Amino acid sequence: MEEMPAPRDAPPDVLISEAQIAARVDQLARQISADYAGVDELLLIGVLRGAFIFIADLSRRITIPCSVDFMALSHYEHGSTPSGGVRLILDLRVGITGRNVLLVEDIVDSGDTLAYLVRMLEARRPASLKICALTRKPDRLTADVRLDYVGFDIPDRWVVGYGLDYDNTFRTLPYIGVLEVLEPAAPGAG
Ligand code: IMP
Ligand code: MG
Repeated sequence: MEEMPAPRDAPPDVLISEAQIAARVDQLARQISADYAGVDELLLIGVLRGAFIFIADLSRRITIPCSVDFMALSHYEHGSTPSGGVRLILDLRVGITGRNVLLVEDIVDSGDTLAYLVRMLEARRPASLKICALTRKPDRLTADVRLDYVGFDIPDRWVVGYGLDYDNTFRTLPYIGVLEVLEPAAPGAG
């Protein structure tokens, strides 16, 4: 008898569609462009690898002058569960002292990663530092971090696509999906 396909072989259910993402990224870009109007230059910092698609779309819709740089972190992970420890594996190529910086993240879960990044970047004395996260899991957030722009508040599920991965797969899905439904569906009435 054939084995049941593993959940990861099935296309993930849609949580946020491509069209919903595009519309929200457009709104965020407008808001950011308005908030930074008159600023000489905004430096967008993407956190690899998860933010690569979001920052590509967002940066192309922002109408003020922007430059882009990247950092990469390694989470001491077991499978897909962050275990708290974070290590910098790729630093910026540019200095940020005196510059207006917008940190662009794919997802904020506990917020520990963001807290680590904010501490590191603040120490370099930027003129300003704001945070833009595509998704946030409000039920999971414990770190004391201030998010200036949030695309979507999402339930406490493992999400993939639009840059987000499970074990480095599903990053290139055009939508944000949930890998598996962890809670049973609510019983229908009648
Ligand atoms: P935090 O430090 O707990 O906020 O964890 C953030 C990091 O965990 C993110 O940058 C992702 O790499 C990963 N992560 C947390 N939740 C998810 C998810 O639902 N899908 C994909 N990656 C996630
Ligand atoms: Mg990330």
